Amino acid sequence: MAVQKVGVVAGGLMGAGIAQTCAQAGYETVVREVNQQLLDKGMARIYGAWETMASKGKLNQRQVDEYRARLHGTLDMAEFADCDVVIEAVIENMEEKLRLFPALDGILKPEALILSNTSSLSVTQMGAVTKRPDKICGLHFFNPAPVMKLVEIVQTISTSQATIDTVRQFALSLGKTPVLAKDTAGFIVNFLLIPYLLAAIRMLENGMASKEDIDTAMKLGCGYPMGPFTLLDYVGLDTTMWAAEAIYEEYKDPLYAPPPLLRRMVISGMYGRKSGRGFYEY
Ligand code: CAA
Repeated sequence: MAVQKVGVVAGGLMGAGIAQTCAQAGYETVVREVNQQLLDKGMARIYGAWETMASKGKLNQRQVDEYRARLHGTLDMAEFADCDVVIEAVIENMEEKLRLFPALDGILKPEALILSNTSSLSVTQMGAVTKRPDKICGLHFFNPAPVMKLVEIVQTISTSQATIDTVRQFALSLGKTPVLAKDTAGFIVNFLLIPYLLAAIRMLENGMASKEDIDTAMKLGCGYPMGPFTLLDYVGLDTTMWAAEAIYEEYKDPLYAPPPLLRRMVISGMYGRKSGRGFYEY
């Protein structure tokens, strides 16, 4: 199937980055939010990124105009009716996803694919509440979505090979390098990344070193672009906790149990960069 029009559900940090990526790659892109305020915020995030790229000379005005013309915001999910692919990037909450998937299933044309950007929830469960489980898989982007080269394609036991082939081509057309993962909690990246981030929090809880020194150690000692606390703030402490909980739920491995400090920071609204305060202040 040739993908021409892409729908993105939600214009938050990941949804906006995904919509930006699709519009830049030449796809007619429609992003849907639940209210005008959130939609305006998501669109402003994308327009702002293009302005920054233009100010650095990475885009010219004609390209910015073309991208803007291809991107369309809406509050009405019915506008997804003629999309070939819809990518959902709503909150990491299974109840939310289980409400969304049947609604999308009822609106989209029969051959359209529904992809989830979930970082650790079961894509199998999302597919099971639709009449097209063969056309459902994960397509997990990394923050910042327009910059990070990787996407994880997540295959459930019901996803057809034709769907995987189409999604692989689609990912390549976005300039991404896809890897294929089975639908097990955490897929590839978070299965490895989450224990590392949680271990850093436990080190801080135990007073083994300061957060600044832990960050410096991993940046300069291992060549990571960001230390674990900077990355936690960047990804979002809430997102990290949900991912940890989902993997813990599946394996009951204490490595994935959210440390008390993480839970308390999330309860207090310290989500990281997006809320202005996490391990650092912004
Ligand atoms: N659109 C377009 N370009 C963007 C952008 C956006 N939204 N955001 C950043 N960029 C560009 C910048 O303009 C800059 O471009 P130039 O170098 O050409 O000027 C480039 O990206 C790098 O940005 P910065 O110069 O601002 O900063 P940096 O060099 O320190 O890189 C970073 C920033 C790419 C985020 C880098 O620090 C990094 O790779 N960090 C690690 C990020 C990471 O690990 N992400 C994965 C998290 S896990 C996850 O997301 C999954 C999950 O499920 C939890």
